[in-house]
Amino acid sequence: MKVLVIGSGGREHAICTSIRKSPKLTELYCAPGNAGIARIAKCVPIGVMEFEKIAEFAKNEAIDLVVVAPDDPLAAGLVDVLNEAGIRAFGPNKAAAILEGSKAFSKDLMKKYGIPTAKYENFDDPAKALEYLKNSDFPIVLKADGLALGKGVLICKDYDEAAAGVKEIMEDKKFGDSGNRMVIEEFMTGREVSVLSFCDGNTIRIMTSAQDHKRAKDHDEGLNTGGMGTFSPSPFYTEEVDAFCRREIYQKTVDAMRAEGRPFKGVIFFGLMLTKDGPKVLEYNARFGDPEAQVVLPRMQNDILDIFEACIDGTLDRIDLKFEDNAAVCVVLASDGYPVSYQKGFPIKGLEKFDGKEDYFCFHAGTKEKDGSIVTNGGRVLGVTAKGSDLKEARKKAYEATEWIEFDNKYMRHDIGKAIDEA
Ligand code: AMP
Ligand code: GLY
Repeated sequence: MKVLVIGSGGREHAICTSIRKSPKLTELYCAPGNAGIARIAKCVPIGVMEFEKIAEFAKNEAIDLVVVAPDDPLAAGLVDVLNEAGIRAFGPNKAAAILEGSKAFSKDLMKKYGIPTAKYENFDDPAKALEYLKNSDFPIVLKADGLALGKGVLICKDYDEAAAGVKEIMEDKKFGDSGNRMVIEEFMTGREVSVLSFCDGNTIRIMTSAQDHKRAKDHDEGLNTGGMGTFSPSPFYTEEVDAFCRREIYQKTVDAMRAEGRPFKGVIFFGLMLTKDGPKVLEYNARFGDPEAQVVLPRMQNDILDIFEACIDGTLDRIDLKFEDNAAVCVVLASDGYPVSYQKGFPIKGLEKFDGKEDYFCFHAGTKEKDGSIVTNGGRVLGVTAKGSDLKEARKKAYEATEWIEFDNKYMRHDIGKAIDEA
């Protein structure tokens, strides 16, 4: 099979790495890719939102399968454009990607179908939002309706902060049109767990659990980022939690989407909070998480192309997902200053130390090739993943491997996976 992956981050590098293992693969392409992906796939200089160019390339090269990884092209309907051109594509179509693309939609869906989530109201009028906040308990959570690079969520400790938040989202349009509508929801407390799944419109298969660290600094301080590290599995995702989620959340979500005339084919990412009243959905994403994919996929034993095809063909019920009985930890090496401002273009040394080492992966996120060497090219630069027999061993190995890499302004968190000590 000739396969084209859309995207350019660590997640896409992890997806390409999994696809490479498939005996079905003949050629692998990635648009636009990065310097790490370029070592295992042919990178094509087409942006993820250049739908016509992607379709044209796929047609000309007789691509058998396009895998759309990032949220923006999914929400904007790349899968629809490809299907209309007669090209097979993995990922939800536009109608289904709304599960992530509109928080107001997903909250209404959960309410309608009795899926546990925080209490909320949707608003498209800032004056009504302010009125509602006058009678609310604090802290409270404000969410821009649409995609906002993971940054459209504000946790406000009192009325004044919340009023400023409403202004930022709905009037100043800090997140653009994503803020035309807004969700105001109850603040929940508990452990967060990410669970990824494959869906074919009817059947859902759950992958192993993971946990992300979203804040920039140790002890969960600093600003929200795309993710500074992950571990898998989560020791807090017990059999009891799993049983509850299978009963109350996973299949119900897939059935709800089908009932709404939006059958979901692709990856649903369940962002869960384990509250004292049981697990609740914080958010849905319509794609693999980044950097969740970097700890989940290296542990997956199936041929990923079989799964992608089964999701498209509606035959996922014939697939048993299998994961190694071990653990993985991913530590993100970022440019100091991320997520605000940072310098890039520094040469990266030590990448070759990962060559030939089975339990270690160096997934590129923001890198590019310049004059024959690989240089930093983004806030998140690399994701260093290691597998171990348990989480403690995986963490030790991942942190050792972070020392193999050198570049100016290298920054990382030192407490990825520390929560496992409390488990
Ligand atoms: P989201 O993009 O919806 O996952 O929100 C980003 C982060 O904000 C989540 O990972 C949580 O840490 C936090 N968050 C979102 N919703 C809530 C909530 N209702 N209560 C507490 N924290 C929340
Ligand atoms: N790591 C969270 C996300 O991909 O949205």
